[in-house]
Amino acid sequence: MKTIPFLLVMFAVTFNACSQEKDNNFYSETIKTGDGCEGCEAVYDSPIPFENLPHVDTLPDFSEAGPKLEISGIIYHRDGTTPAKDIVMYLYHTDQNGFYSNKFNDTGWAKRHGYIRGWIKTNDKGEYRFYTLRPAPYPNATFPAHIHPTIKEPGKTPYWIDDYVFDDDKFVDDTYRRRAENRCGDGILKPVKNESGVFTAKRDLILGLNVPNYK
Ligand SMILES: [Fe+2]
Repeated sequence: MKTIPFLLVMFAVTFNACSQEKDNNFYSETIKTGDGCEGCEAVYDSPIPFENLPHVDTLPDFSEAGPKLEISGIIYHRDGTTPAKDIVMYLYHTDQNGFYSNKFNDTGWAKRHGYIRGWIKTNDKGEYRFYTLRPAPYPNATFPAHIHPTIKEPGKTPYWIDDYVFDDDKFVDDTYRRRAENRCGDGILKPVKNESGVFTAKRDLILGLNVPNYK
């Protein structure tokens, strides 16, 4: 007579295990995470399928005139210590005049975000790196120059995190710092010029840190 309760327990255990199974599909959005984001779907514009993305990208403006920038870091899981591989990050920013300018008869999100866009996927060590020019701030505004990042974890909806901004930007003032949400960690960079004349900066990320409704 103990067979039925035993089977019920086994069914419950199996069902629970299945429902909690990790979705490793790069593109699926089984897990709804974050608090929504207009334009996060632009991550899917990647010209390279996510599974083939390298962990390094050079954005289209890097060969142009302007302050050259190399940004790198490690993305960690929520525990803050385990490197997170296969995390896709989409990046875009303004040009040297502060505009999201177009070059290629762009449509869709490319038109809104401009031609200076890039995609990376972390390697087995959680590492990422990208090369670009330091953007200019919006003209006639008081908002700092910034780089927009969007995170896409396998199986989850994409979500936005704090912009990359620059510590020496006059608009990164006390008010800006106080209001920063520090999503996935502090986004304020302190670039240092290397022997090649490239400004280098590091930003490590902790997935989900300070991200509302993170799952
Ligand atoms: Fe912006």
